[in-house]
Amino acid sequence: MDGVRNTVRFILDGKTVTIDFEKEMISPTITVLNYIRSLPKHKGVKEGCAEGDCGACTVVLAEADSNGKMTYRAVNSCLIFLPMIDGKHLITIENLAQKESGEVKLHAVQQAMVDLNGSQCGFCTPGIVMSIFALQKSHVNPSREIAEDALTGNLCRCTGYQPILNAALKSSNGEPDHFTKDEKNISEELSKLNSEPTDILIKTKDQTYIQPKSLKSALKYVSQNPDAIIINGSTDVALKQTKKFELIPKVIDLSAVQELKFFNEDEDQIEIGAGLPLESVKIKLNGKFCAFADALKVFASKQIRELATLGGNIGTASPIGDTIPLLFAYDAKLKIVNQNGERLIRIEDFIKGYRQTDLKAGELIYTVMIPKHQNVKFYKVSKRKDLDISTVSAGFRIGLNNEKVKDICLAFGGMAAMPKRAKKTEAFLLGKAWNENNVEAAMKILKEEFQPLSDARSGKEFRKLAAKNLLLKFYEETKDELSPAR
Ligand SMILES: Cc1cc2nc3c(=O)[nH]c(=O)nc-3n(C[C@H](O)[C@H](O)[C@H](O)COP(=O)(O)OP(=O)(O)OC[C@H]3O[C@@H](n4cnc5c(N)ncnc54)[C@H](O)[C@@H]3O)c2cc1C
Ligand code: FES
Ligand code: FES
Repeated sequence: MDGVRNTVRFILDGKTVTIDFEKEMISPTITVLNYIRSLPKHKGVKEGCAEGDCGACTVVLAEADSNGKMTYRAVNSCLIFLPMIDGKHLITIENLAQKESGEVKLHAVQQAMVDLNGSQCGFCTPGIVMSIFALQKSHVNPSREIAEDALTGNLCRCTGYQPILNAALKSSNGEPDHFTKDEKNISEELSKLNSEPTDILIKTKDQTYIQPKSLKSALKYVSQNPDAIIINGSTDVALKQTKKFELIPKVIDLSAVQELKFFNEDEDQIEIGAGLPLESVKIKLNGKFCAFADALKVFASKQIRELATLGGNIGTASPIGDTIPLLFAYDAKLKIVNQNGERLIRIEDFIKGYRQTDLKAGELIYTVMIPKHQNVKFYKVSKRKDLDISTVSAGFRIGLNNEKVKDICLAFGGMAAMPKRAKKTEAFLLGKAWNENNVEAAMKILKEEFQPLSDARSGKEFRKLAAKNLLLKFYEETKDELSPAR
């Protein structure tokens, strides 16, 4: 659609809310957390960390699919800017309990938390309840593993997780609630809000916020505004504002561009739209493509994966971005687009240096093409299993011919200023037998190949040790699979 609007519309408390940022003098990069807390009677959502680590700010976003079926996603409200909820139903903790004949009737999730002693302090409980609520709306009788995954982004330091997990399992029983009864109305209202997808352009004294609704207009805006910061899930960029207190003068928000959210699979490869949230990628992979599925299991938390995208992970070019060494190992290619066409580039050529990519002015990452290589593994060493950034990560691939190494990729994160292959170690192993003696000799080369930094996550000697031991682990895990005897 042609034309733009300078307002954002969403449903809250059963009503459509329209925000005119210019008139109401609100920053377009106000976080959803700060917006909600500015409202009367909406102080349940809390700021614990303002960086996606504690889950105290969890809210649920509901959207209707093309058949009117609602989906419910728990997200960190501290990491998203208010225009990102345009056309969605924002559900906060205040919306769960209801008044019936003058009495407050707790929602089933809240009641289970009370009955099973899942709650002590008021700081993290609202976020925990919202995560369980999203779980309950998307799973009936989930396994313990699914319930744990839904809670990876919520910290509790007092009650202990067992009663919380018990409450999650008890309340996710498929019983309808008042949201179920209201779904038809909400979905009709949402389809009215989204019936004419008009680009959003907000200009305030200090900031410009652009939210294109199609790839075509995204490319037009990107070409006209080379100085703008691009966001998709904003889980990386939002921290500039929430932790470094920087003003973000100009934003192009791709979160509403549907053409960036696809997933295709054929015999040889999968192709993932740069804007598909990683939780959706995880669901689409459904355990297949094991190394990728393994990486997503330990990627941040469910709330973050509901927002974070593959395009965003690659776009940061972070030395500790988890998917980059893995994509090196798959020898993935990126499709880069601008207004005039597209080009393909290998991921290895795209990552240029510390947080530097080959992206030129006017370009966007469109898709990531991942060949279905066998014998690829992903490893992540971090201080804790869930919701932690890698100390060292690795994406490895191997192919043998007559028991000799004919193809090898040993890519590491956390070992240099950018994700990097251990080229010397690879060269040593090429053409040699894949056996313990050669791997042990390769480990010595690997230990000297990188000069990693010491930082808060670990000392450099630990990183070297971890890297060489990951190679040994890779050997141990592949030797039988690759053995001709089996
Ligand atoms: C608490 C926490 C935990 C985290 N844990 C992990 C983790 O375990 N592993 C990990 O790897 N990362 C982690 N991250 C980092 C972050 O979540 C990821 O890098 C995520 O994939 C970024 O995606 P996004 O869509 O949110 O990126 P955004 O913040 O929206 O964008 C990041 C960058 O990518 C660029 N970009 C985005 N989309 C495009 C596009 N289509 N074309 C061109 N450029 C684009 C932007 O210019 C921007 O600079 C964590 C972050 C937080 C806050
Ligand atoms: S405030 Fe801690 S995750 Fe948002
Ligand atoms: S309920 Fe708040 S720390 Fe446990």
